[in-house]
Amino acid sequence: MLIKEWTWGRAWFVAMAAITNFILAAVVLRYVGTSEEGVKLALRATARVAFLWFVVAFTASSLHTLWPGKVTAWLLERRQFIGAAFPAAFLTHVALIFAVYRAAPIVDADHPVPLFEIIGGIPGILLVYAMLATSFGWVARVIGRTWWERLHRYGSYYVMGVFIYCFCESFSRPYEELVSEAVAGIPPAIYYWPFLVLSVGAAALRVAAFVARRRLLSLGLG
Ligand code: HEM
Repeated sequence: MLIKEWTWGRAWFVAMAAITNFILAAVVLRYVGTSEEGVKLALRATARVAFLWFVVAFTASSLHTLWPGKVTAWLLERRQFIGAAFPAAFLTHVALIFAVYRAAPIVDADHPVPLFEIIGGIPGILLVYAMLATSFGWVARVIGRTWWERLHRYGSYYVMGVFIYCFCESFSRPYEELVSEAVAGIPPAIYYWPFLVLSVGAAALRVAAFVARRRLLSLGLG
């Protein structure tokens, strides 16, 4: 556990991640409207942008293990703050969820979110913000190294699991429903497939890096 100190520059970077996703949601709601269509589109768009921050932080160490070099070292060095940009950007998704439930029955009436998705999603949100809270040195010291590592390792696995579930879930829906969700004539497969490939690919990278580290250790090179 090597927590880096926060500086104004790093805090500003994280704040910008929050602000840009907020602006993205505002633009979607402004131009598509605050109906079910607009809110769902904003939820999907903000989740995807936040996911990009998450996936970089999630794979930084594995990328460096598999391809040590200047770029991967640069990413690894900044992983803590790229990781903190994720909950910042994800804040808009969480705010929209509250907006959806407050404005019920906009989304609830015809297309309720299944209870098991709510039960599975809420711990994900709590884990995301627990990981953010423990990215501050003094909080990390309170919980201790072992619990910090458990929280960040299993917490990020859980959140990645929720992302993979969300991207896969779309494929279980009827084709007509998916086609009806085309945005500006762009079929939904275009904005589902790259994210599904990215999330499954990131999980595969973690496994490959784990195997590579074990091999180095067994050769006495780790
Ligand atoms: C860590 C927790 C969570 C993650 C990683 C996450 C991620 C995502 C992702 C990737 C999407 C886009 C899905 C798609 O394009 O079809 C999405 C959409 C959505 N999420 Fe979340 N989410 C989380 C928690 C929650 C919770 C707790 C709720 C509600 C209680 C929720 C409500 C929604 C809704 C209503 C949508 C729009 C679904 C649709 O368009 O049909 N999310 N979320």
